Amino acid sequence: MPKQKILIIGSGGREHAIGWKIKQSPRCGELYFAPGNAGTSSIGINVDFKAVDIKGLIDFVKKEHIDVTLAIPDDPLALGIVDEFKKENLRIFGPTKNAAQLEWSKAFSKNFMRKHGLPTAKFDVCHDYKRAESYVKNHSFPIVIKVSGLALGKGVFICGNYTEAEKTLNNILNNKSFGEAGNEVVIEEFLTGPEISTHVFTDGKTYSIFPPSQDHKRIGENDEGPNTGGMGTVAPLPIVSDELMKEIEGTIIASTLSKMNEDGNTFSGVLYPGLMLTPNGPKILEYNARFGDPETQTYMRLLDTDLLDIIDACIDGTLDKIKINWKKLSACTIVLASGGYPESYEKGKIISGIENASGDKDIVIFHAGTKYDENRNLITNGGRVLGVSATGNTLKEALAGAYEAVKKISFEKMYYRRDIGKKVL
Ligand code: AMP
Ligand code: GLY
Repeated sequence: MPKQKILIIGSGGREHAIGWKIKQSPRCGELYFAPGNAGTSSIGINVDFKAVDIKGLIDFVKKEHIDVTLAIPDDPLALGIVDEFKKENLRIFGPTKNAAQLEWSKAFSKNFMRKHGLPTAKFDVCHDYKRAESYVKNHSFPIVIKVSGLALGKGVFICGNYTEAEKTLNNILNNKSFGEAGNEVVIEEFLTGPEISTHVFTDGKTYSIFPPSQDHKRIGENDEGPNTGGMGTVAPLPIVSDELMKEIEGTIIASTLSKMNEDGNTFSGVLYPGLMLTPNGPKILEYNARFGDPETQTYMRLLDTDLLDIIDACIDGTLDKIKINWKKLSACTIVLASGGYPESYEKGKIISGIENASGDKDIVIFHAGTKYDENRNLITNGGRVLGVSATGNTLKEALAGAYEAVKKISFEKMYYRRDIGKKVL
């Protein structure tokens, strides 16, 4: 069987988890990460390119004869990395710039949902402050204001009253606190209900849906405090029945993909709609044009099919030829963060206990913000540092295993949520 040379773009826990899974493929040859982290350097070779250095990456792929590149983070996708690779006849997994617009422009995605009658919160898109202010005046509170462009998960504001809304609009539209990403805002109805993450592999023609998962976006327990990149995930979800998943598949997943196709923006790669299960049925909060982080760390523990086969099928348009299987287990990931995250935090803290914590076969520890210092000490290098993942026959069992492993790991000011999975149990 010919081995493939693979490049994974990105440096988070998600990329480590994807690499961990791809490495298990009998067809996986040399594995590269750009730029990667300390964890990825133990399963592959880190190369020092920024994820957005498209030209540098293309030159590297040509020079090293890389067979397949996986474009994982949102920003290179928004810059059109897939289009640029395709122009050079290089094999790459991910959506084109136009298709990824579902994520990088909330104005585009909301208008797309409106045009095709997809279930989502009522909204308006404004670039003019006066118009935005008058929309807010005529609607009830709380109201949700979103920066249209990419904002590292920090561009969503739930405003409880007019004063807050006015201040938020002024910051985004007049003071340009988000730069160009905030040239437009989406103002929308406040929805309530449990939030879930759905993911789907697609080659643009067929698709295969993942089990439902749940992230925990706020920094504090009981969903308090500011939003983060995600503090922990569980899957599958006891609160989502097969029947509900069928409904979501029909009204949201299949229609989104077919309407994107119809509009000439065929989507290929992983699509991740974030949903709210409202009293009036599931509604789309947002689309992501990529794998979620830390959803992926949990998903890779459950995926039973060779990930490289799936990636190749998505690139080649042959996804209908393979059956994707998920283990009949539950899984979870607990994120260990630097104290202070998502605001300012220190780096360079020595991490101890990883070997001890990963002794059990059900535990896998994925690295995110980590690196080795000049003395080969493993140190913290970001806000989200590690993701401790576990599988179990039940979610309860997986969570107990993960929290047991977490106790063995330490670094100064380490912080994690103790209530991951609690809401769905
Ligand atoms: P987003 O980046 O669009 O997923 O928004 C970040 C978070 O804000 C979501 O995970 C929700 O918790 C919350 N959120 C976004 N849109 C709404 C909405 N229309 N109603 C209530 N909460 C929302
Ligand atoms: N789990 C949050 C994200 O990937 O956007």
